[in-house]
Amino acid sequence: MVYISCRDLKLGYDGEVVTENINFDVEEGDYLCIIGENGAGKSTLMKALMNLNKPMGGEIIFAEEIRKNEIGYLPQNKDFQRDFPASVEEIVISGTLSKCGLRPFYSKKDKKTAEENMKKMNVYDLRKKCYRELSGGQQQRVLLARALCATGKLLLLDEPVTGLDYKVTCEFYGLLSDLNKAGVSIVMVSHDLDEAMGHSNKILQIGREQVFFGSKNDYLLSESWRAFHQHHSDHCKANTNIRSRNSEE
Ligand SMILES: Nc1ncnc2c1ncn2[C@@H]1O[C@H](COP(=O)(O)OP(=O)(O)O)[C@@H](O)[C@H]1O
Ligand SMILES: [Mg+2]
Repeated sequence: MVYISCRDLKLGYDGEVVTENINFDVEEGDYLCIIGENGAGKSTLMKALMNLNKPMGGEIIFAEEIRKNEIGYLPQNKDFQRDFPASVEEIVISGTLSKCGLRPFYSKKDKKTAEENMKKMNVYDLRKKCYRELSGGQQQRVLLARALCATGKLLLLDEPVTGLDYKVTCEFYGLLSDLNKAGVSIVMVSHDLDEAMGHSNKILQIGREQVFFGSKNDYLLSESWRAFHQHHSDHCKANTNIRSRNSEE
């Protein structure tokens, strides 16, 4: 089943185009990695998928079951207040709100959902703690638990490992991979190429226009990948073991 279908999307602000001719589908079970240079419009695209900004052209078609606000969203760091003065459990349970709009209180079912997801993300013991006192890795797991309260189907994550150290990053990607194997579709923006792409099955690369959309295996053979990876290696010494890891699978 196709969850989201983007056709000839054109995105930008105040009449200024950021990126255009974007065409891709997100299908049930997918793990789509979105990559591109800084300022390419990755976060703009994620916000468009979340209905937080309106496309200048083209269309985004949602499957009926996804349209009911059944998307969990983990915004880019700078869009979520790190020093938010709330407890872990308050933040996690607020993820249930996107389903039914604002309500003055939470149902028993919401509380149960929050509890289950805190346990799943291993932050249940931290539930009474203040969010801002947690480590970066713990904070991301709390936000993941929050996003899961909105959905068991589709998660959108915008550079979720920024600022996390290598070990915590690997743990976080492991959690995402487990969720994906359990049936949660994932759309993730990342510039941490090798680790992020390692678990994905599809790649979308955007710039001023769409550069590539297709399977990861096709991407790894493409000129787009070679050029982008080369450019990246020059900047951040990306390791190059993804090819071998990929062929071992
Ligand atoms: N709210 C906004 N208003 C106007 N321009 C914006 C806004 N948000 C982002 N931009 C611009 O849109 C372009 C793409 O930004 P963004 O989607 O955040 O890129 P990326 O996430 O790929 O780094 C950038 O040039 C950025 O300055
Ligand atoms: Mg961004």
